[in-house]
Amino acid sequence: MILKYNTTKMNIINSKQFIVCQLNNIDEITQAFLELKESHFDRTIYEEGVFNAFTKKITQFANTYVIIHKKNKDKETNSLYKDETIGLISFYANDEEKKYAFITMIVVKNIWQKHGFGEKLIEIAKSNSMKKGMKTLGLWVHKENNNARSFYKKLGFIEQEEVNEKQIYLNLSI
Ligand SMILES: CC(C)(COP(=O)(O)OP(=O)(O)OC[C@H]1O[C@@H](n2cnc3c(N)ncnc32)[C@H](O)[C@@H]1OP(=O)(O)O)[C@@H](O)C(=O)NCCC(=O)NCCS
Repeated sequence: MILKYNTTKMNIINSKQFIVCQLNNIDEITQAFLELKESHFDRTIYEEGVFNAFTKKITQFANTYVIIHKKNKDKETNSLYKDETIGLISFYANDEEKKYAFITMIVVKNIWQKHGFGEKLIEIAKSNSMKKGMKTLGLWVHKENNNARSFYKKLGFIEQEEVNEKQIYLNLSI
């Protein structure tokens, strides 16, 4: 499914150049994660023995959306530049009982951060979870990930409690 990207907020974004796609196939999801590997705060999911199980679980149970930067044709050679995955969000919105959605991963490529793409990805998770009847959107963040903590605070998430010695749980009513 390809959605047109609404660009009203961000003047850097040209609607023809940035599109949002939902990924349902394990190969596409694996490829997107690999493209974004260097930009993660915590790369433990990429460890051997973890990554394959992680992508399999995401494909089966989560919703994964990416923002793609569509590249133009090179005018001289007329060849097409490879499209670039610049951001990704994966979230579960299947807890019918507690009506609780959970973001398991959000990442924006380093060079594209602070342009509004992270907020766009959160909006996607929020609206999609709401449509599925969810009432809360939660996630875990590393205590030392100050960038992400500031980002979530800005978007209205409230830090709740420690999950373990390294991570905090925060959530947003939707
Ligand atoms: C956290 C992350 C997804 C934010 O994405 P982003 O595209 O840079 O965020 P946005 O540009 O959409 O920012 C949205 C708002 O949060 C604010 N914000 C973003 N990063 C911030 C920071 N480091 N400090 C303060 N505010 C910040 C922005 O200023 C913006 O507010 P504004 O509209 O008033 O300017 C991105 O930094 C990232 O991928 N980090 C590495 C991976 C990671 O840590 N993921 C989270 C794991 S829990």
